[in-house]
Amino acid sequence: MTSKNVAPTEGTERTYRFPRPLAGHQPTIWYGGDYNPEQWPEEVWDDDIRLMRKAKVSVVSLAIFSWARIQPGPDTWDFAWLDKVIAKLGAAGIAVDLASATASPAPWLTNLHPEILPRDARGDVVWPGARQHWRPTSPVFRTYALEMCRRMAEHYKDNPYVVSWHVSNEYGCHNFFDYSDDAQNAFRDWAKVKYGTIDAVNDAWGTDFWAQRMTSFDQIIPPKFIGEGNFMNPTKLLDYKRFSSDALKAFYEAERDTLQEITPDKPLTTNFMVSGESVVLDYDDWARQVDFVSNDHYFTPGTRHLDELAYASSLVDGMSRKKPWWLMEQSTSAVNWRTVNYRKRPGELLRDSYAHVAMGADAVCYFQWRQSAAGAEKFHSSMVPHAGEDSQVFRDVCELGEGLGKLSEAGVVGSTLAKSRVAVVFDGDSKWALEHTATPTQALQSWTEPLDWFTALLDCGVTADVVPIRGEWDSYDAVVLPTVYLLSAANAERVRTYVRNGGKVFVTYGSGISNEADHIWLGGYPGALRDVTGVRIEEFNPLGDDFPGVDAKVKLDNGAVARDWIDVISSTASTCEVLARYKADEDTGLNDVPAITLNQFGQGQAVYVGAKLGSKGIAKSIAPLLARLGLASRAGVDTDAAGADVMSVTRVAADGKTRFVFQFNRTRHNVAVQVRGTVLVSSHAVNAAGAAGESGEVTLQPAGVVIYETDAVPEK
Ligand code: GAL
Repeated sequence: MTSKNVAPTEGTERTYRFPRPLAGHQPTIWYGGDYNPEQWPEEVWDDDIRLMRKAKVSVVSLAIFSWARIQPGPDTWDFAWLDKVIAKLGAAGIAVDLASATASPAPWLTNLHPEILPRDARGDVVWPGARQHWRPTSPVFRTYALEMCRRMAEHYKDNPYVVSWHVSNEYGCHNFFDYSDDAQNAFRDWAKVKYGTIDAVNDAWGTDFWAQRMTSFDQIIPPKFIGEGNFMNPTKLLDYKRFSSDALKAFYEAERDTLQEITPDKPLTTNFMVSGESVVLDYDDWARQVDFVSNDHYFTPGTRHLDELAYASSLVDGMSRKKPWWLMEQSTSAVNWRTVNYRKRPGELLRDSYAHVAMGADAVCYFQWRQSAAGAEKFHSSMVPHAGEDSQVFRDVCELGEGLGKLSEAGVVGSTLAKSRVAVVFDGDSKWALEHTATPTQALQSWTEPLDWFTALLDCGVTADVVPIRGEWDSYDAVVLPTVYLLSAANAERVRTYVRNGGKVFVTYGSGISNEADHIWLGGYPGALRDVTGVRIEEFNPLGDDFPGVDAKVKLDNGAVARDWIDVISSTASTCEVLARYKADEDTGLNDVPAITLNQFGQGQAVYVGAKLGSKGIAKSIAPLLARLGLASRAGVDTDAAGADVMSVTRVAADGKTRFVFQFNRTRHNVAVQVRGTVLVSSHAVNAAGAAGESGEVTLQPAGVVIYETDAVPEK
């Protein structure tokens, strides 16, 4: 593979295209799931279609793992079964999101070419037996995969039921890292393009540390196994993550371009994994290379279920730059891959789907249509469970189909998520960098901190937008930089300009520490933002439980509690007001140290939060500040209805006037909300019948949701 194929560049952005309805059908919020008919005898297919119609399913994703059925040998091709399924679906008005069928190679291929199998960090072969056992840098695998793409595109180019391409599946889910020779060569080429000279690589990787200085590119090796308890060069490791994302992206682009050349009229996507902590690839970069963004989201069990879902979906909406996106996978109930696979509670199947729609999804799909009877996913829930049609899950699936139909008729499809006043910035590079094992504490993370802020803002009645660092966060009234550990000079300058011109920024501990090569900004932390924040930190004070008799937490004088991390703010600028201080034993050196500060910088203000406070502590600390900074409410009709108990989200129709307000109960008790428009859909809500078509009060039960339409002018 040449450097041309795995270049560290961002490429030309593609034009947004969303799959269009089948001929004779109206635009609708697409509804369906992954469909694996090859796991079932043909008579089941007819029953599937009967049930799909009953549930108002409009689309299915087909052939994701069908390589072995479509190409059973090097020179044999069998499309007959797939043709038959697509014809049956199409006749029933069900569209097909067709996979490239390249996600998992057939056994004959790995037998014939074992050199396509990835290697792990110790150089051992990653064997077949599951899926995705291929290396993106293998020229051999590329040849076979592109041949499959070409055959699929040729065969289905005129098929009217195929509305989009689903290229591969969750790139990098099981093959993000590969340490093979192919990968090593591609990594060297990638470094040549990125850095030009080996000295530039040395500078970036800080190789004078531990005698790692290289004199030629062939001394570059991937971050292979270095023995237990040793520490990899952090910048090399960070670059290997960037390279791995680029290597998979180059492979995706080759598949995409092959399909596209033959079927230029069919939009295409590949499903991301912005879900929990599994943000594997640089999806904000990838999002520029798909026609429409699609995501797979699996719920986080427990108290963060709804908040995490909304946070992840908001981030996907941010990656899609507020254009409607596709929820490709989620579960109707339990998954099969956690230690304990909790089922969803009553109402959550519907609530979760409506929450994705609220956050900008114009397609709601599941993994998978019919629950497998065999294989590693037989205990994973699906739209048609083992119990069959006579089940609560299937009844909910039908109710959801009905509800999505109503939202579509009302014009929700094509509307966009209203812009919040507050942006929470997400930076994938910071997340990658902080995964390193040699940091002040392993509790320092870039996924939980933004989520804590998102939750805290919800607790204050504000539904924030989660915006990738490359996005337009500087167009918001306020911006949160939560543990944005890496800040390039250019991004630091963006923050500076934004605040100088009147913006309000919340910066947390662990932000602006290093540049994009993970070299520390010197002179006191946060080196990149000392002037903006008006604070100077000489040392960090991670918290743990190694001091007998001392709690691993420290109180602030505003009632919040710090855990895991405290910045020792040693001085503040004259423009900086201290809003809260630590109350600690004298011998800790923390007593009276500033914990939260507010700095006037140019026309704007910067709040600095120097400790990990958790969502409750953040909410407690920022609630008075939001009012003081004029950020107490979100622009929207939901303004006064939103409180800590309710998550309120608005989508705005293309006319800019009609607004669709989604209100969700965030608690485990009943909550009353005011409906100020026409109710379109509700679930686990009482009095909704009385409120149908009317304004009035609706009581949301746990997992309850009400969605209404209004033309009222939003309050500011
Ligand atoms: C996804 C994958 C699906 C299915 C699902 C189960 O990662 O794309 O094929 O395995 O997880 O949750």
